[in-house]
Amino acid sequence: MKAGILIKTWIGSIFLMAAVGIGVAQPGKEKQATTHWLTDAESNSTRFTRLQRYLRGFDQPMWEVGERFESIYEALRRDNFALASYHWSKIRTTIQNGYLKRPARKANADAILLGSTWETVDRDFQSKDPARAWTGFARARAACLACHVAESVPFMNNQPVFELYAPSRKETQ
Ligand code: HEC
Repeated sequence: MKAGILIKTWIGSIFLMAAVGIGVAQPGKEKQATTHWLTDAESNSTRFTRLQRYLRGFDQPMWEVGERFESIYEALRRDNFALASYHWSKIRTTIQNGYLKRPARKANADAILLGSTWETVDRDFQSKDPARAWTGFARARAACLACHVAESVPFMNNQPVFELYAPSRKETQ
């Protein structure tokens, strides 16, 4: 009898240890729930895969470019040419970072916007002459529209950010 109880207790302990063991042996599930989504990842390969997915493709840089393009408009409206130039520089950096991730976009980005057009528009802003700066804004806008057509996303052109024009032209419309 006593021996029977001992054996049962012994078997019970084995089951208990096994259950705890299984719990410890399933760290994967625990790790997925952690907020340390990079430092707790099991390998560098998982870390880089997560980062690559998190950093997205061309859409997120373009989102920033759209915001900054609107900021250029606001800057020109208050004759803040230095601020317009600042955003124009950031737009260049952002597009270059965009095609680092999506190399297929590079050829059109360079040919349509980042080559001579970028320089011309920059000089227009640097001139600090309002009329010339607004001409630069129109040139930039035309390049944005052209690349969206070239990259087969023409529907991008039908949104409010591309309905921004020099104030005088807006009044006459
Ligand atoms: C390489 C050519 C190219 C140039 C130059 C370009 N775009 Fe784009 N743009 C794209 C592509 C491609 C998409 C769609 C991205 C996607 O599908 O991931 C896009 C998407 C966008 C979007 C939508 C982003 C979103 O997800 O909300 C905005 C806004 C935008 N572009 C603004 C601009 C502005 C403003 C300029 C000019 C300063 C510009 N783009 C210049 C190719 C370009």
